[in-house]
Amino acid sequence: MENPAMDPELLQKLAQHMEHHPPKMEEFQGVLLPESTCQIWDQIHNFQAREDDILIATYPKAGTTWMQEIVDLIMLDGDVERSMRAPCFIKVPFLELNPKPMPMQSGVEAADALESPRLLKTHFPVDLVPPSFWEKNVKIIYVARNAKDCLVSYYFFQKMNKGLPDPGTWDEYFSAFLAGKVPWGSWFDHVTGWWKAKDKHQILFAFYEDLIENPKSEIRKIAKFLGKDLTEEILDIVHHHTTFDIMKDNPMANFSALPSFVFDQSVSNFMRKGKVGDWKNHFLVAQNIVFDEEYKKKMEGIGINFRTEL
Ligand code: A3P
Repeated sequence: MENPAMDPELLQKLAQHMEHHPPKMEEFQGVLLPESTCQIWDQIHNFQAREDDILIATYPKAGTTWMQEIVDLIMLDGDVERSMRAPCFIKVPFLELNPKPMPMQSGVEAADALESPRLLKTHFPVDLVPPSFWEKNVKIIYVARNAKDCLVSYYFFQKMNKGLPDPGTWDEYFSAFLAGKVPWGSWFDHVTGWWKAKDKHQILFAFYEDLIENPKSEIRKIAKFLGKDLTEEILDIVHHHTTFDIMKDNPMANFSALPSFVFDQSVSNFMRKGKVGDWKNHFLVAQNIVFDEEYKKKMEGIGINFRTEL
């Protein structure tokens, strides 16, 4: 697929398009999605998954890119050079992405053009996943991250990502997140929906916090789920190349290949902090009380245990 960072003419068109078309969201089946995604709903819904696809599903900011890099390297038996064949947003198509009317492939078109085995990404809540993924019994890895750190990460991401609406003030965003009025909807619905689905399908439910705490044993678990038995040497390579510091400097993983009018990394780096518990630097005491109350109401009885600090 064409890389927008490499074609000056396309870059210019994209810049002009973005200037004249501020990002719009639309409520679709109760979930706030980019208007551009809703416009190609039929194409997305009818997407044809293949049996050997691997789908990485996440609520935004849960560690999608991190998991992409880990899975890609596992599937390549630790071949770092091949893992750097293209920026992460090219090698792993984002299923619901629709850059039209730009002359660029949609996520579905990019995926269709890829040879198997394919690695694919979605932020959809479980109910919006194209049915062929279930029909083909595709392996899915869901990464979940505690709501407080997700909120903070998402706030900074919406500030720098010009393809999403401006998040407003911290206070406004805090309320919007709790109400589920942010792109891809409610964190609560997303996580609980996928949690309930995990016992009915081939879904590995992974936690960002576990990956931070014990990356090697998590990488082993992921490899086992994918049917790969890693040697110690390959495990070390996968681990090393997917640490925060290495990915931060990897131009194929840190989104520096995207122009600043798409991701303005002078506002906030894509690879921002990569920590558990950064919410403590942003939540006011009163906000934390409100959040905990709402959290209890919404998550009671679900049985997922998130850690907000390590
Ligand atoms: P922060 O904003 O808290 O730093 P996604 O890929 O789903 O958009 O998630 C992005 C978040 O994952 C960012 O969180 C980013 O820093 C973090 N991240 C990416 N790679 C990571 C890694 N190797 N280790 C830890 N965190 C990582």
